[in-house]
Amino acid sequence: MSVIRIDTQPLAGQKPGTSGLRKTVAEFSRPHYLENFVQSIFNALGDCSGKSLVVGGDGRYYNRHAAQVILRMAAANGCSRVLVGQGALLSTPAASCIIRKYGLDGGIVLSASHNPGGPEGDFGIKFNGANGGPAPESVTAAIFAATARIDHYLTLDTADIDLDQPGAVTLGSTAIEIIDPVADYADLMASLFDFPKIASLLGHRRFHMCFDAMHAITGPYALEILERRLGAAAGTVINAVPLEDFGGGHPDPNLAHAGELVARMNGDEPLAFGAASDGDGDRNMVLGSGVFINPCDSLAILAANASVIPAYAAGLAGIARSMPTSRAADRVAAELGIPLFETPTGWKFFGNLMDAGRITLCGEESFGTGSSHIREKDGLWAVLFWLNLIAGLSKPARTILREHWHRYGRDYFSRHDYEAVAEDRATALMDALRARLPGLAGTCLAGHTVAAADDFSYTDPVDGTVSAGQGLRILFEDGARIVFRLSGTGTAGATLRVYYDSYQRDPALLELAPQRALATLFAAADELAGITRLLGRSQPDVIT
Ligand code: G1P
Ligand code: ZN
Repeated sequence: MSVIRIDTQPLAGQKPGTSGLRKTVAEFSRPHYLENFVQSIFNALGDCSGKSLVVGGDGRYYNRHAAQVILRMAAANGCSRVLVGQGALLSTPAASCIIRKYGLDGGIVLSASHNPGGPEGDFGIKFNGANGGPAPESVTAAIFAATARIDHYLTLDTADIDLDQPGAVTLGSTAIEIIDPVADYADLMASLFDFPKIASLLGHRRFHMCFDAMHAITGPYALEILERRLGAAAGTVINAVPLEDFGGGHPDPNLAHAGELVARMNGDEPLAFGAASDGDGDRNMVLGSGVFINPCDSLAILAANASVIPAYAAGLAGIARSMPTSRAADRVAAELGIPLFETPTGWKFFGNLMDAGRITLCGEESFGTGSSHIREKDGLWAVLFWLNLIAGLSKPARTILREHWHRYGRDYFSRHDYEAVAEDRATALMDALRARLPGLAGTCLAGHTVAAADDFSYTDPVDGTVSAGQGLRILFEDGARIVFRLSGTGTAGATLRVYYDSYQRDPALLELAPQRALATLFAAADELAGITRLLGRSQPDVIT
């Protein structure tokens, strides 16, 4: 079999966003589109000879085809060893785990995360480096630069290989290993948590839980870990079979999309604990009986109680959260006397802090929580952390949540998304608001006085890289905050995200509905940015 060189030319629209290159399947199916981007990854890496990679994805439509293309191109570019999940499957956290465990040079993960799948849906491709984490901006910029220069790509003149049989095959002179996508990840989880203690909780006749895999990648992982290794009752994991179109659903674990889980939580036999993950297994939503645990609170609670967990019993180095995430974790970090880092949106900013040993836990309001065990957010890890806390503290999730609010105060939080907005309108709104920031201090909006306002810029404390323009922040004198930013993961028009949070210490006011507690801030945001006026939208499309 011979290496063949295919002439091509640069294609527009290959700039990686918040999390790799995410486009519609239709766009990815254009001639050379996938190949150009993959070759650009290899070109950005430099000489690939002798390099080792992992390849796999969330099982969505186009995943299998893309995996075959990438394997041929990796071989043609001289990679010596490529591990690939059986069936071309790998969750994002499992890919990170495998890169680290086997000392690989990186990985190519195929996923558009929580975006819908299928021929009419989205596809995506991300490159992770040798630390197991998403490529930092310097690398994504180099990949993008390579997409603008590309004139050919390399592939092999060979048929698809059978990815459904575990084992080893060679492609050209590259060793391809088709591995169990679940085992290494499940072993890692068993090394972090007190599995016997969680097993006894799950075996208790009064503790019933449900995990909704949303027909996405975590089905096989959750079945192995929760049902097989920890002995949860059969049927604990629902929607466990990964489907190319996620069963027509939207694999985003929030109250709007995980409807079946929410219905079971409130059904005839209410459950003590519920959880869901997303398309590629890195997000999590956690529910206690009668309560939704906001991801911002979840990060704070995991940090405050980490000493219960074997892997974290020796203490945390520090905590990081993305800027729009509420400041609940800051209060815990202050009490623990450990540093708190505020980073831009996106997981790629946490990796440097972890590699430098400066943080142990991190999280984002967008249902992402993780630790230094890998370099990606990790949905099932968060679920196991919660189960270990419930078992270790002998308290239900709702009690843990309430006690946390009583001790630290509550950071009310909500995000409002305005989807598929015309890009020029969204940009005009942001530009107009940005221009007003310098004069905002002292202004009163719906009863809240502005203390400070800025366009968030982050200087990486490890390597000094500056990331500017990361979201417009309005900070109020009463401690409340509004953040405006445009999504970097959407594939249709622009998505405006508006994040709200306010702090409450009064024990009598800790149990309000967030939409009620934050209502005056919604009015302030509209008054300030003119959402209704400029976008013609009086209501957000999604509220989380
Ligand atoms: C969204 C989330 C962000 C997350 C990213 C990838 O990005 O807001 O926190 O890291 O998905 O899962 P956005 O669309 O806002 O750029
Ligand atoms: Zn995801």
